[in-house]
Amino acid sequence: MALFKTKTDMSVAQMQLKIPNHIAIIMDGNGRWAKRRLMPRVAGHKSAMNTVKKIATAASDLGVKVLTLYTFSTENWSRPSDEVNFLMQLPIDFFNDFVPDLIKNNIKVQVMGDIEGLPDATQISVKNAIKQTAQGTGMILNFALNYGGQIEIIEATKKLAQQVANGEILPDDIDETTFSQALQTGNLGSMAAPDLMIRTSGELRLSNFMPYQSAYSELYFTDILWPDYTAENLVEAIESFTLRDRRFGGLNDKIESEP
Ligand code: FPP
Repeated sequence: MALFKTKTDMSVAQMQLKIPNHIAIIMDGNGRWAKRRLMPRVAGHKSAMNTVKKIATAASDLGVKVLTLYTFSTENWSRPSDEVNFLMQLPIDFFNDFVPDLIKNNIKVQVMGDIEGLPDATQISVKNAIKQTAQGTGMILNFALNYGGQIEIIEATKKLAQQVANGEILPDDIDETTFSQALQTGNLGSMAAPDLMIRTSGELRLSNFMPYQSAYSELYFTDILWPDYTAENLVEAIESFTLRDRRFGGLNDKIESEP
């Protein structure tokens, strides 16, 4: 892979890529991709599924620990039923085809969102994929499926409120750690927060995607439509991440921190 083919900045070429532990992607632009080709919107989603395979494999090869993909939001139910039905079939097709590759690459599937709210066939497929890849010790491929960030925060709050009501914890026990554990990414521990969040297709918003976890994520926006997104594009985003100065509200540089 030509890692630095688009960069003129030699400092990047000389620099070791800093691979984010957790990358989250808002895979946007499938409908526009199809429209530009005078194809139905669902053709964009079908092509998008192949992009997911390529990018998941590339991320795993690069050493990413968690790849979270925004696959279907709680707001996407408002789309025409034909499109929703197609989107509900995609995980089934994807896992039918791709689970052997996931196992071969030691990738473990995880899902965040309301799985029980999915059609039965989709639920069965997702649960099977989770089971079949459970032994994977490599990258976690985390699908946000029927996921909404605000409802995730509300559900976590209810869970903690119930624990307080049951006398299991005190209100003062609620802090960043306990709250983070109550979210759907709780099992990811210190890797729950995406280091790098990518959105394709030129839209500049996060659309209810991981609003709590993204507090200190580095954001990267590209005009490329998701079906056109490539492993090289992913590396470009990681190059940009490598050059970011992450301070988490503090000071990094020795000179900066001197009085
Ligand atoms: C946003 O594009 C995309 C979605 C709502 C669906 C995302 C689904 C996939 C990427 C395929 C899923 C693959 C697997 C493995 C299950 P859009 O339709 O809003 O595009 P537009 O903004 O151009 O209309």
